[in-house]
Amino acid sequence: MEVVVLPTYVEMSRAAAQIVAEVLNTKPNAVLGMATGSTPLGLYQELVRMHREEGLDFTQVTTFNLDEYVGLRPNHPQSYHFFMHENFFKHVNIPPGNIYIPSGTTSNYRSFCEWYERRIKECGGIDVQILGIGSDGHIAFNEPGSSLSSRTRLKTLAQSTIEDNARFFERRDDVPIYAITMGVGTILEARTLVLLASGQNKAAAVAAMVEGPVTSMSPTGSVVPASRSGAAAQLQPCQAATKCSAANTSTGLADASAVPGPLVPADSSAQFTPGWKWISATRSMMRASPPSVSSHPSPSR
Ligand code: PGA
Repeated sequence: MEVVVLPTYVEMSRAAAQIVAEVLNTKPNAVLGMATGSTPLGLYQELVRMHREEGLDFTQVTTFNLDEYVGLRPNHPQSYHFFMHENFFKHVNIPPGNIYIPSGTTSNYRSFCEWYERRIKECGGIDVQILGIGSDGHIAFNEPGSSLSSRTRLKTLAQSTIEDNARFFERRDDVPIYAITMGVGTILEARTLVLLASGQNKAAAVAAMVEGPVTSMSPTGSVVPASRSGAAAQLQPCQAATKCSAANTSTGLADASAVPGPLVPADSSAQFTPGWKWISATRSMMRASPPSVSSHPSPSR
């Protein structure tokens, strides 16, 4: 795992877009895993810019989205179908037949989920999976307690997720309570994960993901659970975890390490297994020049 701390949201987004572009340049028919939420918006804007101004081509690309709310039709403004079309798909040249998003309105979730898993495999597996992270540490809608080997399935949303997402809906009661989501096991099969996080409210989740134990369970009663499904990202051998400190450095891991949880100092990277790369994220490092995009691991790492 490589942790890249960049000073601003814009730089984080550009670095992530660069990773995607590099994959497309070497493999034009790559399979991309897409994420929704406010975090990847800048990444999508940068990819759209690259498409328009630099000719980044998506005609052979296939995409699989992570998740969708249950009960929302594709044209619902808060559905992830709508989000993806408005913010990305309608601006680039991915053939509509190559776009896969979980259905929030299927009459048979079990068979839909099995089909979705099958389609990912038939398309060759996901080359690059974009991820956000919830403030409770979830990836996609794999809430704390999700099995690390879970596959695409129906999932009940955690209360904290419903509250986090209420800002997008007119009324809190309008937030769906179920979602269909790729599982942790599905996500970990992607060849590369690019996890984006920005803002103070994600600091604890990022610290737990990077430094915490890998377990599906969160300690009950803890405001800041020490371990969540996001920590499973540590298991992925070929991963770029990109973290942005946005406008203030207080979102850095050094600060996040003030939260409860079994944390390791940044300079103890030697204890990690070979293949892991740790870019120290202390306050002083964060004030120094940020690592360049070229410091991202190559897919063969
Ligand atoms: P956000 O959501 O990007 O809107 O913060 C991330 C997530 O819940 O996975």
